[in-house]
Amino acid sequence: MEARVRDQSRPSTAVPSDLLIRTAQIAADWLQSLDRRPVAASATVDELRSSLGGALPRSPVDPLVVVEELARAAEPGLVAIPSGRYFGFVIGGGLPVAVAADWLTSVWDQCPGFYACGPAASIVEEVTGAWLAQLLGLPERASFAFVTGCQMAHVTCLAAARHHVLQAVGWDVEELGLSGSPPIRVLVGARRHVSVDRALRFLGIGRASLTVVPADGSARMQVPRLREELAAAGGAPTIICAQAGEVNTGAFDDLDEIADAAAETGAWLHIDGAFGLWAAASPALRHLVKGAERADSWAFDTHKWLNVPYDSGVAFCAHPGSHRAAMTATADYLVQGGPGQPRDAMDWTPAFSRRARGFAVYAALRSLGQQGVAELVERTCAHARTFAESLTSIPGCHVLNDVLINQVLFWFKDDQTTDRVLRRVVDSGEAWMSGTTVDGRRAIRLSVSNWQTSDSDMARTLEAVRNAVTCQARHNE
Ligand SMILES: Cc1ncc(COP(=O)(O)O)c(C=O)c1O
Repeated sequence: MEARVRDQSRPSTAVPSDLLIRTAQIAADWLQSLDRRPVAASATVDELRSSLGGALPRSPVDPLVVVEELARAAEPGLVAIPSGRYFGFVIGGGLPVAVAADWLTSVWDQCPGFYACGPAASIVEEVTGAWLAQLLGLPERASFAFVTGCQMAHVTCLAAARHHVLQAVGWDVEELGLSGSPPIRVLVGARRHVSVDRALRFLGIGRASLTVVPADGSARMQVPRLREELAAAGGAPTIICAQAGEVNTGAFDDLDEIADAAAETGAWLHIDGAFGLWAAASPALRHLVKGAERADSWAFDTHKWLNVPYDSGVAFCAHPGSHRAAMTATADYLVQGGPGQPRDAMDWTPAFSRRARGFAVYAALRSLGQQGVAELVERTCAHARTFAESLTSIPGCHVLNDVLINQVLFWFKDDQTTDRVLRRVVDSGEAWMSGTTVDGRRAIRLSVSNWQTSDSDMARTLEAVRNAVTCQARHNE
């Protein structure tokens, strides 16, 4: 067969398989180093500015050199988030299969905004959306959107909610905007996540429109108070934002009771289930989200508990008409299908061009299956429970929450001790967790969200806390 002659007009880096293979090696080396390396980054700001900075190169640099040098310079500034001993905020690792699919996503470089631009990416999203609905017990006919994370899932869902409640009083918000519209009341729990307020702000619904319903001692919205506020709303366009999984304690609002209250008053019920909605995937934990299926919209992440790499979240909506009305856009130069044609994701997402996020979620779900997701959720919860029990053997340590799922909240006798113990744990490099303020006092939060956290990771972490407490006690003597 005749050998193909290289097209001299094409830049020589056009098919860089050596670059990709070397990059895969660097990536694998890093993942394999996680057990040995400190979880915290070791480089200072100045060191990173010096190793990564410098002038914008005037002329091209060999891509292999760029990648080698980038990896070398960034490495001391990397936090070992994929490690089994990273417990900060609520952050999962990357399941290897999801990381692999995510690599392919970059290489394939599909734009799933509309079917014509990424047929496989679009169909994978269609399939994955149906799988997620089944797994999490959401209505089969609910519409969905793959977005960057729960923050943008809130924006998507609450835009649909805004459309829906205003349409019910004869106001077309997409046509008329909010200026002069009937006011929308939004009822939120006192322990809601800040991303709810920010989503509402993006939608022109400011703080003055929010009514904060107090929380009980377990961070749950007080439903009798919610009912009082709903009664006072007197049929005005109303949205309720409830929560499955409070960020510090993992507490769940009583979604069944709240769904009753919403149904009785015609309010839209939105659920922030960033991580907590995944309880629905576990037969042992499903009771925590009883009633969630009756909501009007749901926002959650796949980059947290499902352990898909950043960034990946999903919005679901029980009213496809309102969802689509809030999101859709058309232009003459686009190739959009119509009724009976495959779904164009642009009709459902706040993004125009975007990453084909469905591939990694699809790979994670296909690889784990329903049982694997349930096991992942239950295993991480079991680690959190055992850890909380073990903490009580450490002098002066008080666990503050009922460990329902994967979150543990604890503190020591005063703020200074709590912050110093946390600092010592992080500085030890053995584990990474983050602090918070609860009821005006400093506390430490530990979130077990990583697929690979093992018994030995938990034992090392407990030892790190124990050592930090001992050192702090000695320091105080
Ligand atoms: C309860 C809750 N809601 C919303 C969010 C925002 O999610 P994201 O950072 O994926 O946008 C978080 C993030 O931690 C969360 O814990």
